[in-house]
Amino acid sequence: MEKRQELYAGKAKSVYTTDNDDYVILSFRDDTSAFDGEKIEQLSRKGEVNNKFNAFIMEYLSNAGIPTHFEKLLNANESLVKNMQMIPVECVVRNVASGSLCRRLGVDDGLELNPPVFEFFLKNDALHDPMINEFHIETFGWAKSEDVSTMKQLTFNVNELLSKLFADAGMILVDYKLEFGLFKGDVVLGDEFSPDGCRLWDAETRKKLDKDRFRQGLGGVIEAYEEVARRIGVPL
Ligand code: C5P
Repeated sequence: MEKRQELYAGKAKSVYTTDNDDYVILSFRDDTSAFDGEKIEQLSRKGEVNNKFNAFIMEYLSNAGIPTHFEKLLNANESLVKNMQMIPVECVVRNVASGSLCRRLGVDDGLELNPPVFEFFLKNDALHDPMINEFHIETFGWAKSEDVSTMKQLTFNVNELLSKLFADAGMILVDYKLEFGLFKGDVVLGDEFSPDGCRLWDAETRKKLDKDRFRQGLGGVIEAYEEVARRIGVPL
């Protein structure tokens, strides 16, 4: 597949067209951002670690029956994925209270959530990704209601699969964000799954092994991502 021009540059990844309209190339950069792009730094090796981490997780989910956009790893920083029409909605599942849930509702960080909490957010940095519900999504035409149900179901299926994967490696999947798109009319998991878009704590010590290390200036960000990768068997 031949790489052509840059289609879109996000905060951490760039998308390139190819000679086949059905596929694009995702290029994972070292840029790391937080707080809607207010804090940005380059973290050496991050693009490569997240590209390989995402490939491993997407293949794992795909083998378990979750439709994903992932096709194959191309090189250290790039993957070939399906060219989807992205749905501008973030799906978040929380197994343990942390982050914005604690700020919004005043609950204690670390509180176990049973059943897990599901939230939708609008993907819009200028509006600081406001929380929305199914009615907003349908009324404003961001997705059809049957596709919203599919996104929700798939996000919960991912929770079962990945909570176990990480638990078996001594970690707690605290929360995570997924994004979906439409490919030839079907809802398909897109974007990435990496420690940039989830919270992972060591099950014993509760040490943070995710992007909160960057948000909170704790240091050792990429070392933590690499530790998670090593524990679940991602070849780096
Ligand atoms: O900030 P908040 O607590 O709502 O984040 C919930 C989860 O979604 C976290 O794992 C966070 O990393 C992820 N997230 C994300 N991208 C966003 C917002 C949240 O990956 N724009």
